[in-house]
Amino acid sequence: MGRLIVISNRVSVPSAAGAAGAQGGLAVALNSALREHGGIWFGWSGQETAEFTGHLDMQRNNGVTTATIDLEPQDVDEYYNGYANRTLWPLFHYRIDLTEYDRNFGEGYERVNERFADSVFPLIEPDDLVWVHDYHLLPLASILRGKGVKNRIGLFVHTPWPPTRLLASLPFHERLVASMLEHDVIGFQTTEWLESFLHYVQKEMGLKIGLDNSIEYNGRQVIARAFPIGIDFAEFTEAASSAQAKEAHDRLKASVRGRKILIGVDRLDYSKGLGERFESFSRFLGDHPEMAGKAVLLQIAPPSRGDVTSYQQIREDLERKTGHINGAHADVDFVPIRYVNRGYPRAELAGFYRAAEVGLVTPLRDGMNLVAKEYIAAQDPENPGVLILSRFAGSALQLKDALLVNPHSVEHVAETIKLALDMPLAERKRRHQKLLASVREEDVIHWLDQFVKALSGPDKDSGNVASLDRVA
Ligand code: G6P
Repeated sequence: MGRLIVISNRVSVPSAAGAAGAQGGLAVALNSALREHGGIWFGWSGQETAEFTGHLDMQRNNGVTTATIDLEPQDVDEYYNGYANRTLWPLFHYRIDLTEYDRNFGEGYERVNERFADSVFPLIEPDDLVWVHDYHLLPLASILRGKGVKNRIGLFVHTPWPPTRLLASLPFHERLVASMLEHDVIGFQTTEWLESFLHYVQKEMGLKIGLDNSIEYNGRQVIARAFPIGIDFAEFTEAASSAQAKEAHDRLKASVRGRKILIGVDRLDYSKGLGERFESFSRFLGDHPEMAGKAVLLQIAPPSRGDVTSYQQIREDLERKTGHINGAHADVDFVPIRYVNRGYPRAELAGFYRAAEVGLVTPLRDGMNLVAKEYIAAQDPENPGVLILSRFAGSALQLKDALLVNPHSVEHVAETIKLALDMPLAERKRRHQKLLASVREEDVIHWLDQFVKALSGPDKDSGNVASLDRVA
């Protein structure tokens, strides 16, 4: 097998000291694969430069080579804040009310995809497997093909894929999807998003789908499949049993003085259903006066994409809502919602998850949602907490033994909170065992192995990525 060329908007550079603590599970797994197979992780540095030069910042850290480029302010505005996060992100999360269609965004998106292609092109060798990630870079493969790249190219879409009727509201949607069909493999998180994509190519493009979900396009076969992503189970459970996790657990427990803890951990994004979650918790408190002062919701929500108006808006809405709910239910020695706008290292999060009797993961729409899986992995199997999970998160298709809810129904979520807090130990253990087995088996290494195998092609063996030394 050739090297891997991973291309994504953001690049996670492993620290020379060892990556384990600071990076997310996906980054750790991709770095392991890059270490094993050799190759390069290419993307945007996150930095701006007055004028685009195409200069590649190549670095080798901890056995992994990364190559990054800086973008011009106009690129960041039109491509990242614009087309990616004002157009595609809301549309892909079924929020056409928030979707902005602006021709400049589309032009900026294409320009930056061209810039990515120009910069990564010289790095690609004939046997390399090229693996593109997410909605920022959907047309990249077609630009690379135009430059004569014949390598196998795969795409993994981390977000949901919208129903055809919604996607049709995007100007030039046909061109965007046609450009995606220049990949050899297109991966989605779940069969639901896969089905939406296949529906689109059949209904809007009149293409034929083979039995193995292969799409015939311009005389080529494109494979479209679901590859549900997982967490790095081994690495996460190790973090969960660290001293740092134990300290975080004890600190949180001591601070609530015997009260029940419900926890939510989400990037501050309107797709996460935070407002509905707060309302549901408030309804629960209102419906059960005997619970007054006895349960706390800890919501960790690091702000993101702050230059985009809809993110500024949701942030303000949540501040207002939290103040309102806390004003109504607080007491001199008690505040029901602890709303925290910052992130924490994974080991600390693991400690917080373990301390919480209930994990509240209630997005309105989510490609997968790994917080649900982390919550399960962090529990004490002898006394596990209960996961309340939105049926609209991709992970709900795997985590069927969670308490599945409709996050739009404040009453339903409020009732489910009560059910979760009252659940007897035997039922908690029974559910947790099944959930844990799924989270353990379908971990990120399994996902990586499956995708790389498919990308390697029908007659090639990718080698066993699962046997990788994960965190060197
Ligand atoms: C989602 C996307 C990722 C993105 C992440 C953080 O998970 O699928 O591609 O990197 O959000 O968003 P940001 O805009 O901060 O990169």
